[in-house]
Amino acid sequence: MTAGWSLDGRTALVTGGSRGLGFASAQALLARGAKVAIISRNDADVKAAAARLDSGTSPNVLPIVADVTDDESVKAALAQAHGWQGRLDILVNNAGPQLAPTPVTEADLDVITSAFDTKLFGFLRVSRAALPLLSETGKGSVVNVAGATAHVPIPNTGVTGIVNASVVALTSFLAGEAAPKNVRVNAISPGMTKTEGWLAKNEAAAAQQDISPDDVRAGVVKALGIRLGRWAEPAEIGAAVGFLASDDASYVTGQVLRVDGGLSKPVA
Ligand SMILES: NC(=O)c1ccc[n+]([C@@H]2O[C@H](COP(=O)([O-])OP(=O)(O)OC[C@H]3O[C@@H](n4cnc5c(N)ncnc54)[C@H](OP(=O)(O)O)[C@@H]3O)[C@@H](O)[C@H]2O)c1
Repeated sequence: MTAGWSLDGRTALVTGGSRGLGFASAQALLARGAKVAIISRNDADVKAAAARLDSGTSPNVLPIVADVTDDESVKAALAQAHGWQGRLDILVNNAGPQLAPTPVTEADLDVITSAFDTKLFGFLRVSRAALPLLSETGKGSVVNVAGATAHVPIPNTGVTGIVNASVVALTSFLAGEAAPKNVRVNAISPGMTKTEGWLAKNEAAAAQQDISPDDVRAGVVKALGIRLGRWAEPAEIGAAVGFLASDDASYVTGQVLRVDGGLSKPVA
């Protein structure tokens, strides 16, 4: 283990930590020794997730109920996360909406507005509330979870695509504005990942086509030209978050790390 790997003594906040990539990110940060606060809107879900994450005797995970679309809720959540250990070192902006596939030209404007409100403005709201609290000792770091659709125009994913592309731009501006405070800001762009949400969608598609979920995923791999020939495990996305949040990435800021198995082409 290198000295930069450990997050011992640091406190992190992960939005959308009750499942999927947020949960995997929380797991990765905990594995490196951080204490982790997780946010979601559902009290029972966020508490259950905290119980699954935390195997320690002293509490290493703090469940917080908050809505990233609500300014007051976000401010209260940040105060709670910071007050828990008296410090905040790491912010993972991850909470985002699940969207039905549709051409961007046909998507309901309310759906697009809501997607921006949760993800782009949610990331901005949480970052604004977090920046004055984040450690200025060089340990402070923000990781934004964007997505492969920011870079590759996969048909029918235009709404997530324009939101994720805006998250990439936000990352770049935040990195510039946070640098004088010695806080690094980066993003990851995950590709197709076997989160609970996608596994359920794969099952449904498999039942409809009378094939196996593995065959459904293999079809996506082929269509998208995923060079590694498979979908990601959530832990592989969490590992990238852990890296960018740690001192292993101490000279990395304003960057987007694509964690997509080499996803290379849009389909016709
Ligand atoms: N899964 C993938 O393959 C993939 C690929 C590329 C990018 N991404 C991005 O990765 C992020 C996570 O995706 P995921 O698939 O893990 O999503 P997910 O399984 O749907 O989880 C979303 C998390 O965000 C929380 N959340 C949603 N809206 C919220 C709000 N307004 N306030 C607070 N919490 C909220 C959810 O809890 P509640 O609903 O209980 O609030 C849940 O904890 C998203 O930004 C997504 O765009 C995912």
